[in-house]
Amino acid sequence: QPKVFTEPQSMREFSREQRKLGRRIALVPTMGYLHQGHLSLIKAARDLAEVVIVSVYVNPTQFAQHEDFGVYPRDEEGDMQKLTSLGVNAVFAPVRLYASGMPEPKGAHETFIQVEQLQQPLCGQSRPHFFRGVATIVAKLFNITEPDLAVFGRKDYQQLLVLQRMARDLNFAVEVVGMPIMREDDGLAMSSRNALLSSENRQKALSISQSLQAERRIVSPKELQDAVASRISAAGGRVDYVEVVDASDLKEVEDATKQPTLIAVAAFFGSVRLIDNIEIK
Ligand code: PAJ
Repeated sequence: QPKVFTEPQSMREFSREQRKLGRRIALVPTMGYLHQGHLSLIKAARDLAEVVIVSVYVNPTQFAQHEDFGVYPRDEEGDMQKLTSLGVNAVFAPVRLYASGMPEPKGAHETFIQVEQLQQPLCGQSRPHFFRGVATIVAKLFNITEPDLAVFGRKDYQQLLVLQRMARDLNFAVEVVGMPIMREDDGLAMSSRNALLSSENRQKALSISQSLQAERRIVSPKELQDAVASRISAAGGRVDYVEVVDASDLKEVEDATKQPTLIAVAAFFGSVRLIDNIEIK
């Protein structure tokens, strides 16, 4: 059975005890409703460290007012079963992590982290508060759990880059590690939000991974972008963005054959917003 902590102080005490015993500590931050994508990160963490801490917290500051915080799927019991069977050492499941709740009363929590450039393109365009919320909560989790390393998925590619940059710029003694995207058998990237899709939209959403696979060889970024976007629209999705960018800094690419390139997609199916990406060399 994992030890379950709901308070920052007891979580930190556990971590410090483990550190004193000379053990390497890995943190896997999640918002719960765990699927194979999350579980792959936990398995990777187990290989990289002796102590694995998984945090489960739906972070209010990374959702805008109109977004799906209220309907974000939750399954505390199912999550605990999975975490137990994976042999996780500790679960950090705080009830709240911001003074007096967020966003009310205004001003109860004042300090936020922004990764100025990297937070701007892709998801930063349509979700301007998102990376500020993510960077801030992950910094809090790093301070509470004091891990040696933290494991994130490459499905949220921009998130991974933002957090690697934050750790470097703010001298966190945490190695931020990225792991491959886990997919369903038919190619759909695993996501807690897939549970919110109707079966019809679940089918249409396959157009994301299929278009990325089908069009990845097109050389001109503009053509590639258009080809992926039109496949998704044709399937009935509403494209938020399709971007072809440099995989290291998310800036524009001239020639996708000459530099590591990322094709990143966000699209709505019904009210559910999904993201996916593919890295091409
Ligand atoms: P969440 O969406 O729960 O994802 C937790 C971690 O699982 C992230 O690192 C994410 O990239 C990874 N993940 C999700 N789907 C994946 C997939 N199909 N394959 C591989 N990894 C996958 O991302 C968040 O939570 C939050 O923003 C968080 C970092 C916890 C901060 O609140």
